[in-house]
Amino acid sequence: QAFFKPIQRAGLPSPAKRHTKISVIGAGNVGMAIAQTILTQDLADEIVLIDAKPDKLRGEMLDLQHAAAFLPRTKINASVDYELTVGSDLCIVTAGARQNPGESRLDLLQRNVALFKNIIPPLARFSPDTILLIVSNPVDVLTYVSWKLSGFPSNRVIGSGTNLDSSRFRFLIADHLDVNAQDVQAYIVGEHGDSSVALWSSISVGGVPVLSFLENQQIAYEKVTLEKIHKEVVDSAYEVISLKGYTSWAIGYSVANLARSILRDQRKIHPVSVFANGFYGIEGGDVFLSLPAQLGRGGVLGVTNVHLTDEEAKRFRDSANTILDVQSQLGI
Ligand code: 2OP
Repeated sequence: QAFFKPIQRAGLPSPAKRHTKISVIGAGNVGMAIAQTILTQDLADEIVLIDAKPDKLRGEMLDLQHAAAFLPRTKINASVDYELTVGSDLCIVTAGARQNPGESRLDLLQRNVALFKNIIPPLARFSPDTILLIVSNPVDVLTYVSWKLSGFPSNRVIGSGTNLDSSRFRFLIADHLDVNAQDVQAYIVGEHGDSSVALWSSISVGGVPVLSFLENQQIAYEKVTLEKIHKEVVDSAYEVISLKGYTSWAIGYSVANLARSILRDQRKIHPVSVFANGFYGIEGGDVFLSLPAQLGRGGVLGVTNVHLTDEEAKRFRDSANTILDVQSQLGI
């Protein structure tokens, strides 16, 4: 006996609605921050959580399901079995070891590559048309590893990259100039981590280029302040990790923001880790690094031709060499 008596829809076609399914791999602090942001923003009809620890996983699933009365309707499922991810539109991978205080992102490499060999092949098998969004660190190398292990075209393998570093950068610049961070256009490119590159030449606030504005106003050239801001961006994660043990909220919002652009075909530009061969003189190896890229339902739609000064381009290539060096030791 159905609870509702169905209404006859006289001659009307039933509304065709696409079902959007997101799988989140890893139900740790980062995975759960992403899942809860996606839920509050009504981005998916179905969220699947996958983790290796069944009790923790079921606990997280129930805890989110119990908020159903306050959230847009989303089906939440969880399993240790990848079969549940079948037909996902987007797979977000957060699983893996995280940095202990003082450890760099690259220190995590061996542990997380071994793990990815068990994660990426089943994801690709159960959702051959999905977009992979990699968040685990070191994110640039693991995005490359995921591209290799999945066999997907590079436009469907994206690393969350410096979308978060750029948000930290915009926050600090906004704080310095006392404006809204959403009005600050500023990009950090390259490695998500210690060798990231700040694009000073393209910073603008409300359409006003910041560097030339400061120069025109004959405000004492603030290079030292600006360098300090970039250093603060690089140190951000280390500081949060030493204080609370991990980072979660900012990466949660940052990744949900990427999920929205991809699934809603927003064609917005985000600095994310993409296949970077051929850009700014990178050659001699396959590498994923962050550049401002346009994202939509097809994944990476294009990469903006942002102007890099000679110094910035050199730092970008150095970033690439750091990553290539690490990758050459992986045997993948
Ligand atoms: C972050 O930057 C640790 O990569 C992580 O918050």
